[in-house]
Amino acid sequence: MPILNRAHEMAEEVTGWRRHLHSHPELLFDVHETAAFVEEKLKSFGCDEVVTGLGRTGVVAVIKGSKGPGETLGFRADMDALPIREMTGKDYASQNSGKMHACGHDGHTSMLLGAAQYLAETRNFAGTVVVIFQPAEEGGGGGREMVEDGLMDRFGIDRVYGMHNMPGVPVGQFTIRSGALWASTDEFKITVTGRGGHAAWPNQTIDPIVIGSQIVQALQTIASRNADPVSAIVVSVTQFHAGTAHNIIPEDAEIGGTIRALSPENRALGEARLRAIAENIAAAHGATAEIEWRKGYPVMINHSGEADVCAQVASRVAGDNAVETEAAPMMGGEDFAYMTEARPGAMILIGNGDTAGLHHPAYDFNDEIIPLGISYWAALAEGNGRAA
Ligand code: NI
Repeated sequence: MPILNRAHEMAEEVTGWRRHLHSHPELLFDVHETAAFVEEKLKSFGCDEVVTGLGRTGVVAVIKGSKGPGETLGFRADMDALPIREMTGKDYASQNSGKMHACGHDGHTSMLLGAAQYLAETRNFAGTVVVIFQPAEEGGGGGREMVEDGLMDRFGIDRVYGMHNMPGVPVGQFTIRSGALWASTDEFKITVTGRGGHAAWPNQTIDPIVIGSQIVQALQTIASRNADPVSAIVVSVTQFHAGTAHNIIPEDAEIGGTIRALSPENRALGEARLRAIAENIAAAHGATAEIEWRKGYPVMINHSGEADVCAQVASRVAGDNAVETEAAPMMGGEDFAYMTEARPGAMILIGNGDTAGLHHPAYDFNDEIIPLGISYWAALAEGNGRAA
């Protein structure tokens, strides 16, 4: 099944939805207007059930096929924007100052709405499709909140699928891989407490800046000396705050940053080594290091059977040479990870063409790819999660 004629017919209308959402970006869980827009559309399509308020502001709709029993598939899109001042100069640019759809979630939501409209019209599939519109992908854990709110059990979801656009991948192409696709995204803050005093008498102090500097250096050995060299882990110190004047050794120093990993093992290793390094270097100097560990998104892992199905479905829609199945994993995070922890599933990446990168103020979702995205969702539904 190539790109659907119906999807081409719908493209202009769906592009209108996409640009409307682009003009009205909202952040995190505060996606009330977006969720209301999604709810209104889903109801107008005649979905069997539309549920709001899941995971605070998430929206879910159920569409039953007419071809008998089968699995229940969850298709997920994200609705939230980013705190960025838009620089696209487009006539549909953000009307909400300082907020912008710079990750294409406006496009993901619109394509899944288009697919919902098509599937509710045609019902040419077995089993059930549950379309999932989540808030707060950009750091709030909206996916986790929807799962904790009973998303999977309440709707009887057997498998779950996601799609994200990818700048730099040509229009008309998809990429995917089995295994880890996006990294875990934990954050840390280390507070080194020494003893402050006069800069001219350092012997009477315990200098948290010198100790903190050693900790920053030693943290580099997590990636270079602790982790398996063919695995992936990133340790980035992004903040170091200390001191108030040139002649005072401060009492404490604060070091902040992020650790990202592509396996649960490396994720655990990163945390354990960070604690050991910071606490023991501080202790060696008679200081203390207090560690605040903020758990972020887990590693987003594509299950191999589901990733294979996605690749085969994408090949049928886009053509045999249009799907890269060995995509490089990325050290960014994705809270779709909570959904593929809860159920087997996979996320595919759809080429956004030669545009500015994700989270860049000049980024814009490419409306040309809307028919392809809708057709992919339709084909996945019509095979009921199988490639045939
Ligand atoms: Ni995104």
